[in-house]
Amino acid sequence: MADAKIIDGKAFAAGLRARVADGVAALKASHGVTPGLAVVLVGEDPASQVYVRSKERALVELGMNSFDHHEPADMAESDLLALIDRLNADPAVHGILVQLPLPGHIDSQKVLARIVPEKDADGFHVVNAGLLATGQPGAIVPCTPLGSLLLIRDTLGRDLKGKRALVLGRSNIVGKPMAQLLLQADCTVTMAHSRTVDLPVECRRADILVAAVGRPEMVRGDWIKPGATVIDVGINRVAAAEPGKTRLVGDVAFDEAVKVAGAITPVPGGVGPMTIACLMLNTLAAACRAAG
Ligand code: GUN
Repeated sequence: MADAKIIDGKAFAAGLRARVADGVAALKASHGVTPGLAVVLVGEDPASQVYVRSKERALVELGMNSFDHHEPADMAESDLLALIDRLNADPAVHGILVQLPLPGHIDSQKVLARIVPEKDADGFHVVNAGLLATGQPGAIVPCTPLGSLLLIRDTLGRDLKGKRALVLGRSNIVGKPMAQLLLQADCTVTMAHSRTVDLPVECRRADILVAAVGRPEMVRGDWIKPGATVIDVGINRVAAAEPGKTRLVGDVAFDEAVKVAGAITPVPGGVGPMTIACLMLNTLAAACRAAG
């Protein structure tokens, strides 16, 4: 069998970003409103710093305002909640993103719950999770599952009715909302996780396999149904063959999987760029709703 089609998330994300930039320009022209996202980073976690910088760069590139709040690791929870209150009340701020993970002394759920749902650009607030789970309009959808769904639709077409989908990983950020989106698209959805029995057998039944467990190259080639669409959400840094060097790998053993799957996202260059593009889209949408 021929190797899988490589799903080019970088190219798709570039197209989406261009459409968002057009939307930003149109909103400015029609309503005099510039979409703005507040990005809150607490502490010095190196991976978070990289993510936050790329979000801030994308905002500026697309003509949006980036309000950056980089706070010390020992910031009191009460001060963070007070900052959220100020951002909630600021009309120039249409979206608020609090980079996770937060330092251990801060209750993440309490902080996320403080963001008004209309400004919850990440879609992590329980109101947005509830709107998505109950299939109601107006939910802000988490960026990584949204980006993954766009890639799945671009690969398989809009009609996903009756397809067997398996989501590996049950996080609130990716696994659960991903399963909700696929369910809404009329897929038959299985959620698998670290306690699932006979995981390879479960995976092999899936026409669509979304891996979001954060375990490097856990999904092997023989776990994949021939011709399946494989979406690899994992971004894991592992030691490279060359001493002292590292490389990025996904949750799927790409070199094996590419021989079996029908289509597969690479790491890097697959889902990653879609996450930021969807964050830009969520921010624009929040600004459009606020502008009426
Ligand atoms: N940390 C890892 N992924 C994410 C994300 O998508 N949003 C936020 N806010 N923090 C994260």
